[in-house]
Amino acid sequence: MTDPTLYFDAHVFICTNRRPDGHKRGSCAARGSEKLRDYMKARSKELGLEGRIRVNAAGCLDRCELGPAMVIYPEGVWYTFHSVADVEEILTVHLTEGRRVDRLMLQPDQKTLRPDQMG
Ligand code: FES
Repeated sequence: MTDPTLYFDAHVFICTNRRPDGHKRGSCAARGSEKLRDYMKARSKELGLEGRIRVNAAGCLDRCELGPAMVIYPEGVWYTFHSVADVEEILTVHLTEGRRVDRLMLQPDQKTLRPDQMG
């Protein structure tokens, strides 16, 4: 049997996990992911992407040191993001135009953020 067609063209999972202050791994919520997730969800509706893409809050995605972290399926592309401008760029470039935001992309073997990825 072949796989069914995609239900959503893209499914965005944004970590909104929160750890106590001072935790050695930190957490995406402590770095502002909850507000940015709310912004992305509302903005995707404004842009008419609702129904085509889905923005979901997620628990810890285990890339805490690189957070706030999101992953977009079906491609499995990971991003770090720190601002409304970063979210806008991901919405426009990745989710609307089908390209990649190279500056914010996380590589599979990446353990720390590059200086140009820090918010
Ligand atoms: S707390 Fe966000 S990836 Fe772990």
